[in-house]
Amino acid sequence: MDHQPPVGGHLPVMADEVLRELITDRDGIYLDATIGGAGHAEMIMQQLSPKGRLIGLDRDPQAVARAAARLASFGGRAQVVHSDYRSLGSLFRELGVAEIHGALFDLGLSSLQLDNPERGFAYRLDGPLDLRFDPTQGEPTSSWLNSATEESLASVFSEFGEEPLSRRIARRIVKARLAEPILTTTQLRQLIIAASGPGGRTWGRTAARIFQALRVHSNSELDAIARGLDAALSLLAGGSRLVVIAYHSLEDRIVKTVTREAARTCDCPKIYGRCICGASPRGRLVYRRVLRPADSETVTNPRAQAARMRVFEKCAIPSPLGAA
Ligand SMILES: C[S@@+](CC[C@H](N)C(=O)[O-])C[C@H]1O[C@@H](n2cnc3c(N)ncnc32)[C@H](O)[C@@H]1O
Repeated sequence: MDHQPPVGGHLPVMADEVLRELITDRDGIYLDATIGGAGHAEMIMQQLSPKGRLIGLDRDPQAVARAAARLASFGGRAQVVHSDYRSLGSLFRELGVAEIHGALFDLGLSSLQLDNPERGFAYRLDGPLDLRFDPTQGEPTSSWLNSATEESLASVFSEFGEEPLSRRIARRIVKARLAEPILTTTQLRQLIIAASGPGGRTWGRTAARIFQALRVHSNSELDAIARGLDAALSLLAGGSRLVVIAYHSLEDRIVKTVTREAARTCDCPKIYGRCICGASPRGRLVYRRVLRPADSETVTNPRAQAARMRVFEKCAIPSPLGAA
């Protein structure tokens, strides 16, 4: 749950597995819905033929600029767009791309964002309590934190952080902001330490859960994931794949629900003699369970420890009888 930055910047997580599972046609068009530092994107481009293309998105304008610079040597074959993946359906209509040959979602935030104190994602670094992926939209998280009711605060901490001390921390915040607004990561960290009880030994894990909850809430992340995955599934060509890497159980639960539903075959009792449930699978789960990073990767990249990958394959011809 605690996204620790790897040594030396952002290393693409489960990179070998991404390349192996994602690329089914070296001449195809690929979507990197979360281009971040373009680590995965660069490796994908290196695997594609001179006909292959990649379209990368990010909500974060800084990430877009960095990724575009990193991919500049691939020219027009690698396009980076400042966009939210929840609207990728309309974006691809604008771009005139009707079909893609693979889609990658590497969820959450990058180490480049986590390591930058100005973004407010890291509870250990002092900075403004912002936590927006796209600082050009909406308001910093501190605006909500200083105006939400105690009940709303507690419910966000509980729902999006699965935090057992959610009520106690919400109460502390409401009391503290009567004296002065909570505007920095340090102010919030100190409140969390105080609420963590005598010794406060577990405050680090509590802070990680509270910051995760604020990030998920401020960016409406869970709603975005469900919508983005659905849009990507619609764009996938038959036989091509959706690869998703999640880092906590809330993200993974949505990925699991969306992909299982997309793979659902008819489960009407045989006695009915015909299907009444309307199941129309869009493809199949390539693996029943999540794929995890190899030990050799987590040794060099601690952030990979939490990673879990799911792979879905669109069926070549939609079949009411189910996927292979
Ligand atoms: C884990 S990082 C991706 C790292 C990337 N795979 C790499 O190798 O460098 C996740 C990225 O997704 C972006 N992001 C989060 N939510 C998004 C959304 N709804 N639409 C587009 N990008 C989003 C974040 O800004 C962040 O840069």
